Amino acid sequence: MFSFRGLLGASVLVSTAMAHYTLDYPISRGFDDDNEVNFCGGFNSVENPRQPFPLSNGTIHIDSHHTLATVVAYISTSSNPTSFNDFNTTSNGTSIPLLTNFFQVPEGDSCWTVDMAGLNIGLTNGSLVTLQVQFDGGDGNLYQCADLVLLSDFTTPSNETCSSDATTASITSTATSSQAASSTSNTATSAAATQSSGAAVLGVKAGSWLFGMVVGLAGVTVL
Ligand SMILES: *[C@@H]1O[C@H](CO)[C@@H](O)[C@H](O)[C@H]1NC(C)=O
Ligand SMILES: *[C@@H]1O[C@H](CO)[C@@H](O)[C@H](O)[C@H]1NC(C)=O
Ligand SMILES: *[C@@H]1O[C@H](CO)[C@@H](O)[C@H](O)[C@H]1NC(C)=O
Ligand SMILES: *[C@@H]1O[C@H](CO)[C@@H](O)[C@H](O)[C@H]1NC(C)=O
Ligand SMILES: *[C@@H]1O[C@H](CO)[C@@H](O)[C@H](O)[C@H]1NC(C)=O
Repeated sequence: MFSFRGLLGASVLVSTAMAHYTLDYPISRGFDDDNEVNFCGGFNSVENPRQPFPLSNGTIHIDSHHTLATVVAYISTSSNPTSFNDFNTTSNGTSIPLLTNFFQVPEGDSCWTVDMAGLNIGLTNGSLVTLQVQFDGGDGNLYQCADLVLLSDFTTPSNETCSSDATTASITSTATSSQAASSTSNTATSAAATQSSGAAVLGVKAGSWLFGMVVGLAGVTVL
């Protein structure tokens, strides 16, 4: 299993000047720019009622305000998760796989499809989980959480349907070149540039586990 913090490094320098990213679907517990560096973005209470979410074939939708960012998503089956351990191990000690492996997103809206049932940890109709999305735009990890009830007969609202899955889309040359063009002396930009050049050298497609590892390690070297 992964140590999420180990892979991407502890949160350190973070600009508080802008919204780093928002979790738009399912709807986040809450958004506070200054607290996004903290577990669940600083929102520590489970929301009731939980949002219905598809047991299979659900959509996650984020809006990134960084030119390039590395994203990973994971869930907890704890009724009130309080630590990252709750997102990789169930209460009976079963390992919880990542919901989505590491992948990169350009600035703006991105969405991708997830299959909770496919994690094979016994999730069924009515299971309660908390989703946590971890995002690194080059200046440390940022977090958002959403509390869900998984339903086998619930479908993603049609306006949130994901037409282009960000986990399998290649990062376009537009994103990479605008990244290079906008390079300034700030930490966020140079970190993201390092990530994109690493990806270019290896030519590994976004969404693969190896790619995630490479990006994760690149993230560590720049932190
Ligand atoms: C779970 O995550 C925590 C925090 O990132 C880490 O310390 C721990 O080693 C992980 N456990 C497993 C089984 O991967
Ligand atoms: C642990 O719980 C999962 C469901 O979350 C179940 O599938 C599994 O069989 C349980 N394992 C043990 C050892 O009880
Ligand atoms: C799934 O659970 C919901 C809520 O408990 C229930 O209303 C629904 O009938 C269940 N669906 C199936 C297919 O069992
Ligand atoms: C997944 O859900 C979308 C709506 O969000 C639907 O259009 C699509 O047919 C579904 N795919 C499967 C395999 O059920
Ligand atoms: C979908 O519709 C809901 C409810 O009207 C709205 O809150 C949400 O912002 C819409 N999502 C998108 C991506 O437009």
